[in-house]
Amino acid sequence: MEVLELFPTEVFVFENTAVDNTQLVEYLQTLDNVEIKKSTTLSILVDLRKHDQFKDLFLWFDQCLDEVKTHMKYDCDELTITNSWFNVALTGYSMHQNVHRHSMSLLSAVYYLTEGSPTVFEDPVIHRTQAQLEVLRHGYNPFYSSDAKPGKLVIFPSWMYHSSMPHIGSNNRYIISFNCLPSGKINYNLATDSKAHIRIVND
Ligand SMILES: [Fe+2]
Repeated sequence: MEVLELFPTEVFVFENTAVDNTQLVEYLQTLDNVEIKKSTTLSILVDLRKHDQFKDLFLWFDQCLDEVKTHMKYDCDELTITNSWFNVALTGYSMHQNVHRHSMSLLSAVYYLTEGSPTVFEDPVIHRTQAQLEVLRHGYNPFYSSDAKPGKLVIFPSWMYHSSMPHIGSNNRYIISFNCLPSGKINYNLATDSKAHIRIVND
């Protein structure tokens, strides 16, 4: 029997062992006068790319995105980070993120600065998870759990629904998240009409 794995979903995992994540978290704890969105976790809406302490880390993010672009054979000049923020799940409150996706974005990412609760990705083939007549299968789980490990970066399609489990660790959980869009000349080689020339302005 031949088995065709049709239309798989690609999620990219990178690891950076050179980053001093503890030092970065200590810096984040000093930030004040920042906008905080209080949801199930604290979302601190600060553009970390503009902070020298994060310059090297964001350069590495750009390199990872370039690797993804090459792997995916995207017909565009670049994948450009459009916005970023960091989330804190305080210890003792079972803080979590509800299921969501990221709009106005092609690829999104989570970078773990600390250990903590995992990120959970949902099987995007909803037809097989919402079937009225579902026959359960041994070894099949419609959720993928990505462990939080300092230095780990996961880049995923922005349309992919995900959440984070309630954080029950003894320390606060810190993650950085970002979105990206294709930029420059897009689809110029593969399309005649479905193309665009886009410049991302980060203000
Ligand atoms: Fe998210």
